[in-house]
Amino acid sequence: MQTISIIGYGKMAKAIACGLNGKFRLEIIGRDKEKIEDFIQTNSLLNTTSFHSQKTIDIKDKILILAIKPYALEYFKYENQSRVVFNIMAGVSISRLQNVLSSKSYCRVMPNVASLVGSGLSVIYSDDMEVKRLASDIFDTLGSSIFVDKEEQINSAGAISGCGPAYLGLVAEALIDAGVREGLSLDISTKLVNGLFDGFSKLLQVKTPNEIRLDTTSPGGTTIDGIVELENSATRAAFINAVCAAHKKAKSLS
Ligand SMILES: NC(=O)c1ccc[n+]([C@@H]2O[C@H](COP(=O)([O-])OP(=O)(O)OC[C@H]3O[C@@H](n4cnc5c(N)ncnc54)[C@H](OP(=O)(O)O)[C@@H]3O)[C@@H](O)[C@H]2O)c1
Repeated sequence: MQTISIIGYGKMAKAIACGLNGKFRLEIIGRDKEKIEDFIQTNSLLNTTSFHSQKTIDIKDKILILAIKPYALEYFKYENQSRVVFNIMAGVSISRLQNVLSSKSYCRVMPNVASLVGSGLSVIYSDDMEVKRLASDIFDTLGSSIFVDKEEQINSAGAISGCGPAYLGLVAEALIDAGVREGLSLDISTKLVNGLFDGFSKLLQVKTPNEIRLDTTSPGGTTIDGIVELENSATRAAFINAVCAAHKKAKSLS
């Protein structure tokens, strides 16, 4: 059984550790001993060791997953050379990473928060076949994964699938509010929106977005009046601009 060392014990580290639990030996690394111990206990992690340090981490021959905040990268000093680094930090490029730590291979990964429920989507970039196979073994345990051919595509993909849950969260909140405004209870409105997202995600596997829209929009019906309101508010442009803004920010972190 291989050992995977995860630096960090936040939300994404939790999703990854829970996905890998029992399938790999784990090592949880960070700066706070109590938080690490609590993380291992709360998530019932098996075959797991821990290492805490305020400064230096020995990464010799490790398979590392970097699950800390981008600004925290330089907080630690990394000694020796790791076997491979899976970097999930938004916007942090391989060249920035190479200036901070030495590894035989570097791999960029952009998971998303649905990993917490085993339905995550991870976008992966590596130019090494063996690393790609290991990346699939690790990140498929969180849901599914997609490979991109160029490192810069990670930032574009991340602006959609990594940030997307927040955008859809905003849409879900707005629809729940709309139901309440129209006189439904919060509970009923929430159940309607949950069911809507669930059914929509399944429909999207067999139909294009345009087909779904046309199937719902009958001539002179109710939906087209709603669509006109959304088009008047430039909803499509707002989403496209949101993805562009997130992409721009990710590039600025490189
Ligand atoms: N959440 C998402 O949807 C998502 C999606 C894709 C990628 N990511 C990436 O995943 C990474 C982790 O995100 P998260 O959502 O899991 O964040 P999080 O829950 O806030 O966890 C952050 C982790 O970073 C550590 N950290 C923060 N500041 C630090 C510092 N100054 N020095 C050392 N360690 C520090 C924290 O440890 P302490 O408690 O000790 O500070 C904690 O282990 C980020 O780089 C993010 O870009 C997140």
